[in-house]
Amino acid sequence: MKLKIIKDSNPIMRQVSSNVDLPLSKEDKQLLDDMLEYLKLSQDDEYAEKHNIKAGVGLAAIQVGVLKRMFVVYYHDEEGKEVAYQIVNPKIIETSVKKCALSNGEGCLSVDNPHEGLTHRYFKINMEAYDALQVKKVHIIARGYDAVVLQHEYDHLDGKFFYDRIDKNNPTKQLDGEILL
Ligand code: NI
Repeated sequence: MKLKIIKDSNPIMRQVSSNVDLPLSKEDKQLLDDMLEYLKLSQDDEYAEKHNIKAGVGLAAIQVGVLKRMFVVYYHDEEGKEVAYQIVNPKIIETSVKKCALSNGEGCLSVDNPHEGLTHRYFKINMEAYDALQVKKVHIIARGYDAVVLQHEYDHLDGKFFYDRIDKNNPTKQLDGEILL
């Protein structure tokens, strides 16, 4: 199936998504599978070029027009290990004092315009959620890039974009003790 990505110019993207009923319905599980498949295909250069889509590492349900607190993540980390989740009803239950930011800035499948600057994130988070891939409740302790991706997707559930966290007056200024990734 083909998913259509909603862009940030659409006011729907500013809405707050609702919790999802568990156990997951067949429709919700199917949507998560389709979203994960979309990410995998988006990282296939040939496919992405042919279908004129951008490569993405995360996708929230709201980005395909479904206002439910669900998102998927898919990428390979620095060690080549596959990171894949189908996150449902996440809660960030702990955050570090330490902050971090991607030095080249963040990107988003819903954002076409460039937004230069640092998106300030917690360096480490503890996220509680249901993971439909592992078919169980999980506690994910994520640091660095992994933590950034989870926070970026989590923000979509609250109608927020990465550029909301860029200091407009001082976009490239590093916070005290902030780690640049
Ligand atoms: Ni995004």
